[in-house]
Amino acid sequence: MKITVIGAGNVGATCANVIAHKALANQIVLVDIKPGLAEGKALDMWQTASVNIFDTRIIGVTDDYSATEGSEIIVITSGIPRKPGMSRDDLIATNARIVKDVTEKAIRYSPDAIVVVVSNPLDVMTYAAYRAANKHHSKVFGMAGILDAARYKSFIAEKLNTSPRDVQALLLGGHGDTMVPLPRYTSVSGIPVSQLLDSDVVDSIVQKTRQGGGDLVKLIGTSAWYAPGAAAALMVEAIVHDQHRIFSVCAYVNGEYGIRDIYLGVPVKLGRAGVEEVIEIELDEYEKQLLNDSACSVRRLKKTLDDMKLF
Ligand code: APR
Repeated sequence: MKITVIGAGNVGATCANVIAHKALANQIVLVDIKPGLAEGKALDMWQTASVNIFDTRIIGVTDDYSATEGSEIIVITSGIPRKPGMSRDDLIATNARIVKDVTEKAIRYSPDAIVVVVSNPLDVMTYAAYRAANKHHSKVFGMAGILDAARYKSFIAEKLNTSPRDVQALLLGGHGDTMVPLPRYTSVSGIPVSQLLDSDVVDSIVQKTRQGGGDLVKLIGTSAWYAPGAAAALMVEAIVHDQHRIFSVCAYVNGEYGIRDIYLGVPVKLGRAGVEEVIEIELDEYEKQLLNDSACSVRRLKKTLDDMKLF
């Protein structure tokens, strides 16, 4: 298994590191446009192999896609991150060009690869990668739901003084302020969260989750990487091991939930073939409204992408 990670910055390097630790690939190729960055980080990671006990060969290259030839999975993290005061949407003009460019170059050498997008604004960048890759939408999708759910789970676990791994949760919608956490589908080892926490506490956790990424940007001065990198690696794991896991993934919706022709966070079954199916869960009127609002905001941003006339 050969995996390419494009962008050797904070998220890309973290993702590659987790992939190596989990022994998901024989070879990881890290690509960046900044001379020496991917080579240096790959070398540093490779030099941890005897300490952290893994065999994955990690190499880095500067904008040389021939080294990525024959990759089975391509993870795209290249692009600029948010700075304080910016929304994810502010990144579109720069990142759309980068995502288009790197996808086209990578797919030329690995036409059969599955593409996992992490660059923001995620839902529209995933659409851009889909257009650039010119592949079936089941093979091109994005990472956000696992990250948003992980943040949500961490806040619930903190409140209950329990382990985050016992928290089950699902979030829908775009990766932004309009994301849709679903308290009705949240449980702790099977116990509905409504039996464990008052609804106003859950509401405040939902709000904290929505602004979770932004709060980190304020603290660090750039966007987060440990959780995003690990979340992307979890998707890679589900693909490599053909686990058929059910995650919220930024996937192409073609009529599911009454929404068409955009990428949006929805529950899917994920395995070696990519997105095997989009799962339609039952939503009440309020949840449907939130999901539609989120879809509208993704659609508005997609119009900005369309107006750039890159495709
Ligand atoms: N080709 C390859 N690499 C590129 C290109 C390109 N055309 N353009 C930019 N890059 C690289 C940068 O050189 C940088 O090393 O992408 C990397 C991005 O790394 P960081 O600046 O550290 O950003 P990071 O925090 O990793 O976030 C990357 O993921 O979560 C999202 O919002 C985040 O869009 C952002 C992306």
